[in-house]
Amino acid sequence: MGRSHLSVRRRIRRYKVLLLCLLGICIISLLHYYRALHNISLLQELLSPSTLKMFIDIFWNFLAADFGSKQELHKDSLWKGIVDLSVILPDPPDGKLHERTFVLHDDLTPFFIHTKSGAVCFREGTNVAAFTSHRRLQQHHNEINPKDKAINADKMVVRCPCRQGWHGPHCGIPTIVYHSNLPSKSKVIPRKVPRRVINAININHEFDLLHARFHELGDVVDVFLVCESNFTAYGDSKPLVFRQQILNGMFDYIKHKILYIFLDHFPDGGHADGWIADDYLRTYLTKNGMSRLEGLKKDDVFIIDDADEIPARDGILFLKLYDGWTEPVGIHMRKSLYGFYWRQFGTLNVLSACTAAMLFKVYNGDGILLRRRSYYSMSGFREYENSTGRILVPWAIGSPVHYAGWHCSWCFKPDGIYYKLISAQNGDFPRWGDYSEKRKMSYIIELIRTGGWFDGSISDYPPSDPREHMFAPKYLLDNYEKYRYLLENPYTKAKH
Ligand SMILES: *[C@@H]1O[C@H](CO)[C@@H](O)[C@H](O)[C@H]1NC(C)=O
Ligand SMILES: *[C@@H]1O[C@H](CO)[C@@H](O)[C@H](O)[C@H]1NC(C)=O
Repeated sequence: MGRSHLSVRRRIRRYKVLLLCLLGICIISLLHYYRALHNISLLQELLSPSTLKMFIDIFWNFLAADFGSKQELHKDSLWKGIVDLSVILPDPPDGKLHERTFVLHDDLTPFFIHTKSGAVCFREGTNVAAFTSHRRLQQHHNEINPKDKAINADKMVVRCPCRQGWHGPHCGIPTIVYHSNLPSKSKVIPRKVPRRVINAININHEFDLLHARFHELGDVVDVFLVCESNFTAYGDSKPLVFRQQILNGMFDYIKHKILYIFLDHFPDGGHADGWIADDYLRTYLTKNGMSRLEGLKKDDVFIIDDADEIPARDGILFLKLYDGWTEPVGIHMRKSLYGFYWRQFGTLNVLSACTAAMLFKVYNGDGILLRRRSYYSMSGFREYENSTGRILVPWAIGSPVHYAGWHCSWCFKPDGIYYKLISAQNGDFPRWGDYSEKRKMSYIIELIRTGGWFDGSISDYPPSDPREHMFAPKYLLDNYEKYRYLLENPYTKAKH
């Protein structure tokens, strides 16, 4: 921005202040005039709630333009440096992003090794070196005692030697499932063909967490349904930043797995009751996204997350590769605020996964219903349970002491927190974005520094260290410099 431009703005601002004063004087003299005439009805009209509101709105807009800018950001300044929105990129020649379909294919990755001795071992969880020496020993043994061979082949249940962190006869059960409350843990068996995994999310401006999700789950998830709206949850207009980023190549490493969903309208009643807007996002995401998938099978896995909930890869891989787990499936997530450094006690356990069959037969194809805990009262539940031939009990990957994912709440730089404040839905009261003092950068920075909350409270956080197990998704830790603001408190001095 040039100097002359600045001085012009300053002059405009001065004129605005002048105009504001004149307007005030006009109103006051008008009121005096009418009072002098004792024309009460006109005065009443002038002071009616709607007229007053109009005047107040005008007044606030003046103030916001003139004085608010010193402490508050312009709402679109967040995108500067992330993406150029001056030119809206056209859809590629092969079709509009939000009208494409996605064909699901079986994942042919050789997740398991089939040994000559008949063992089926999960490649990643098996200690291959120990395995080969173990087999050599066996062969040696067989050469010495050829008669034992036939007997052994019958009796021997070949167990794979597991790496640390993997369990079960096939070494495919990760610790977070092994220590979970899955009742049928000992009965799960590897599938011949993996399930396809569908991960659905709504995106606003959580782009760093989105990259973290795509890197965490990219090789396990078959398709990401990602919904972006040109409305905020509050009902204001919002640029399609994610669409722009897909088109300008920022997601080229994963775009073959992204199905872009565009929500171009705001639900009726969403202004008055923000929860309607909030729920509708998930409903639209699921209905539109699932209807554009081809080749869906009833035992495919559907997972719906908020953009700030990132499941750990190994737990999702288990759902993909194994049969015998029950549903719906929750995920115990590590909880933190503003970054991974303000860790909160306990876990957040969100019901977020089920099979495609359950999604449609019990939840009417609506992802928001899956996230509610009242699955058993859904009309289709008993019938569906009967059709599976087993008792369906919910369980959760992980446990209160074994994190199976991350919930990073308000994890932004200060400008991102500001943007979240002003776009929050109208219903989750108090709506902190309505308080101008809570939108100030200095206030937001102080919250981040102290781990405080908008209501003035400060929680008692346990100490945390980026080196601890499950501190943050691996991708963020691997790119520490770039994502340092999420890993260390930016506003406190380093302890050492
Ligand atoms: C959102 O997009 C739709 C379709 O392009 C358009 O009709 C609508 O006016 C847009 N809304 C806002 C708030 O930009
Ligand atoms: C449960 O399934 C059996 C067949 O497997 C059927 O005969 C029975 O009517 C079903 N019950 C309900 C409540 O759907």
